Amino acid sequence: MTTLRLGVNVDHVATVRNARGGAVPDPTRAALLAIEAGADGITAHLREDRRHIHDDDMKRLKAAIAKPLNFEMAATEAMLDIALRIRPHACCLVPEKRTERTTEGGLDVVGQFRALKPFVAELGKAGVRVSMFIEPSGEALKASADLGAPVVELHTGAWCDALAHGDRAKADYEFGRLRVAAAQTPRLGLECHAGHGLDYESARVIAALPQVVELNIGHFLIGEAIFVGLAETVRRMRAAMDEGRAAAGAAR
Ligand code: PXP
Repeated sequence: MTTLRLGVNVDHVATVRNARGGAVPDPTRAALLAIEAGADGITAHLREDRRHIHDDDMKRLKAAIAKPLNFEMAATEAMLDIALRIRPHACCLVPEKRTERTTEGGLDVVGQFRALKPFVAELGKAGVRVSMFIEPSGEALKASADLGAPVVELHTGAWCDALAHGDRAKADYEFGRLRVAAAQTPRLGLECHAGHGLDYESARVIAALPQVVELNIGHFLIGEAIFVGLAETVRRMRAAMDEGRAAAGAAR
């Protein structure tokens, strides 16, 4: 089975920094530490309101890290300009609402198909791997493939919320959607990533889906880092993912 990559999202290091408006803690330092501890890449979301990551963070991250940088962004002209200047390894297109606390729901790839098309094309032309952050549905997968995006990131938020609320029936239903969606990706020629709201336990479970090759995880890791340190948190996450994948492989 393919190995599962861990993308560490450093947004909330910037959230803590911005609480005081200074230079520390530095998301770039966190990125380097996470990589040393086993992260395969770094993810950061430059939101339109710049509530956590700032433009300069994105530039510094790109310059400092030797592993892939995944730039999460809304599909706007202003963000496209910045992404084309920074030229990250990958761009994940996400929906964005100013009033939301975090990215709620996946991109409306069906309804916004025509509007999204030039963004996927421009980024692809620049050699950036484009990922669509979508709900785990057949329509969204098909539209992403039709858009020419090489990658989809399945939104795991609804599943993780159900787990957090102890709603077993809903969690099983949501996990079923993720399983079915992941299984459809090879046929559509899509690389499959997943993320949002994952912790050690949910990462271990989703690691069992063989088509998923990358998890992007932020809030939980930065929160745990307060208690056990970032390097240890990344090592534990890596171990949880590897255990989940190995157990699934043995069961096949
Ligand atoms: N993937 C995408 C596309 C996201 O927007 C986010 C949140 O920024 C994540 C993954 C990570 O989610 P979390 O911080 O809940 O782990």
